Amino acid sequence: MKRIAAEAAVDAYVKDGMNVGLGTGSTAYYAIRRIGQLVTENGYRLTCAATSIQSEEIAKGFGIEVVDIDSVGKLDVTIDGADEIDPKLNLIKGLGGALLREKIVAAATVREIIVADDSKLVEKLGTKAPLPVEVLKFGHEHTSFALKRQGCEPVLRMRDGEPFVTDGGNYIYDCRFPNGIDNPYFIESRIDVIPGVVENGLFLNTAFDTVVCDPEGNVSKASEREA
Ligand code: 5RP
Repeated sequence: MKRIAAEAAVDAYVKDGMNVGLGTGSTAYYAIRRIGQLVTENGYRLTCAATSIQSEEIAKGFGIEVVDIDSVGKLDVTIDGADEIDPKLNLIKGLGGALLREKIVAAATVREIIVADDSKLVEKLGTKAPLPVEVLKFGHEHTSFALKRQGCEPVLRMRDGEPFVTDGGNYIYDCRFPNGIDNPYFIESRIDVIPGVVENGLFLNTAFDTVVCDPEGNVSKASEREA
């Protein structure tokens, strides 16, 4: 499902000569692979910027040259994954740990295209996935107390017995809201003013389209699912 959605999105949105953002995660992997085919087999000339060190390495492995985001102007399109997609195409991202660079790249992108299997579709954000919040290491427990006051249960993300460290050198708290997130714009505004918060995983009014595959292999764009 991830592969089918990712390849369909690349084929629909990536054109020769474009500036392209490369997402992070297991679904974005297939998009990077397909973009690599366009470059190495179809002769596309693309200028690509990555949302993580991991994706940059994957892209290079597929024969894609990756440039610094600051060496390009606007990106025409970015193909990235998501952890939750609500009916308004608002998202939770960051379970793969790349939310900060993903948000910077998304902000530099004209068309942010989200690829996913249909398990990522939710009626309300925060009902399946926790909300990842990237925080500075300095004083991170104080930051987590402030996050908790927003009605969630923050858990420091761990890997191999140590706190997970992002590409930016920060920690992540995965914040579970017991009843989901009723007003994501309000929660985002509250979280963003907490000292020590670097970025949150709410991507609101960011996605231009979502390309989703169901277990039968049917691919739908957002406009087709509404119909
Ligand atoms: C990484 C992300 C990913 O796009 C998100 O976690 C989805 O990953 P996957 O496609 O592996 O389910 O936001 O920070």
